[in-house]
Amino acid sequence: MRKKIVAGNWKMNMTPSEAVALCETLKPLVAESEADVVLCVPAIDICPVVEAVRGTNIAVGAENLYYEDKGAYTGEISADMILDAGAKYVIIGHSERRDYFKETDAIINKKVLKALEKGLIPIVCCGETLEQREQGITIDWVRMQIKIAFQGVSAEQAKGMVIAYEPIWAIGTGVTATTEQAQEVCKAIRDVICEVYGTDTAEAIRIQYGGSVNAKNAAELFAQPDIDGGLVGGASLKADFGVIATA
Ligand code: PGA
Repeated sequence: MRKKIVAGNWKMNMTPSEAVALCETLKPLVAESEADVVLCVPAIDICPVVEAVRGTNIAVGAENLYYEDKGAYTGEISADMILDAGAKYVIIGHSERRDYFKETDAIINKKVLKALEKGLIPIVCCGETLEQREQGITIDWVRMQIKIAFQGVSAEQAKGMVIAYEPIWAIGTGVTATTEQAQEVCKAIRDVICEVYGTDTAEAIRIQYGGSVNAKNAAELFAQPDIDGGLVGGASLKADFGVIATA
């Protein structure tokens, strides 16, 4: 049985002091969760959030990393920095980074390999645009994204990873994929992992759904056989995250 994993993605929200206040709100609300609970927060919030959630069931993640170890990369943060600050997870390849910051599948692959080399758990994002869905190429597209992101990743490493399927048309729009749509693509992702690595890895890897997950729809989505939890944007900034994490 795979343990569910519910992760918040705060995006570019919450100053450090706001972040600490939000943690205080969320701590009691997620305390009873049977899932792994993760808050992925802006880089500047990692240290205060790690402090704020110390001793609780909340783990911390970054929203991005750079694939070089150190050096002249102004504005970037490294895997070592994230780890030393006390975070365990890192979101890689979110559609907003692909779109606004021109991250390619090849860059995402380099980031995945660096995170794994250093011992961070990557949450690798994939998902199609509305146009791609209408063209009927959703599954092909997502398969390609996953295959490239996982180049050079061993079966052992893949087992511990997390994939987030996030249809771009559902992110921040209030339009959630139907449970059937979400389950269909999450199953297709598990199938491609099975083709590449075999059944053991496919059974172990955790696949989240993301895109307008809220307190009302979370339980039904997370009950699907191939959906092992969610990556939650807007609703992770409020008390709803407690309902989602215990769904
Ligand atoms: P949303 O964002 O829950 O606000 O749709 C999800 C995400 O981008 O991870």
